[in-house]
Amino acid sequence: MAVFNIKVNNENRQVDVDPDTPLLWVLRDNIGLVGTKYGCGIGQCGACTVHVNGAAMRSCSLPVSAVGDKSIITIEGLSTDASHPLQEAWRTHDVPQCGYCQAGQIMNAASLLANNPDPSDKDIDQAMQGNLCRCATYTRIRAAIKTAAKIS
Ligand code: FES
Ligand code: FES
Repeated sequence: MAVFNIKVNNENRQVDVDPDTPLLWVLRDNIGLVGTKYGCGIGQCGACTVHVNGAAMRSCSLPVSAVGDKSIITIEGLSTDASHPLQEAWRTHDVPQCGYCQAGQIMNAASLLANNPDPSDKDIDQAMQGNLCRCATYTRIRAAIKTAAKIS
């Protein structure tokens, strides 16, 4: 075990865990931020996507020892009141079905829009292809991203 000081959603948090512990489990089990989901655990589904210094990353594949002083943002920290344009667009399009993949989808989409404020369908498909949805909500996800781009 070792003590790590990490910055999550603009708050400093201290955790005492095995250095190899994936950030996903630190967020969920040690800090109590359960919006970030466990899907595959091997970087293949995107359910665990968070932002690390603004870039979308798979928290299941990032050991807490590699976080250092980087800023972590989870779905809980994307906005203070669920008013991020993507969250509004997700509601407008009623995107989720079971909902399990959706936090990861939104965090990945937020990273896309931060880098490309007016993405084409192809840009969206390319950026989102690693985020899997068992309920196949892909059409609504794409529509919501385009709506969010307009209201951003
Ligand atoms: S749980 Fe991390 S990519 Fe699937
Ligand atoms: S909404 Fe069910 S897995 Fe995506």
